Amino acid sequence: MGELWVDGGRCQGHARCWALAPETFEIDEEGYAHVIPGRENSGDEPNVRKAIRNCPERAILERET
Ligand code: F3S
Repeated sequence: MGELWVDGGRCQGHARCWALAPETFEIDEEGYAHVIPGRENSGDEPNVRKAIRNCPERAILERET
């Protein structure tokens, strides 16, 4: 499991990630998502997996560690 990050070039602010896993994703003042610091390794939690799958832009990525 790699480190989660949101590709700012892909994120369009659909906020499904935040709706499904608010303990891992936050939305900034411009409406784009970021991984909450310290939650980069939560990618194997079921709701986080669901958030990754449900992003319409496929903007939530995992970086190999
Ligand atoms: Fe962005 Fe996808 Fe979340 S477009 S706000 S990363 S659901």
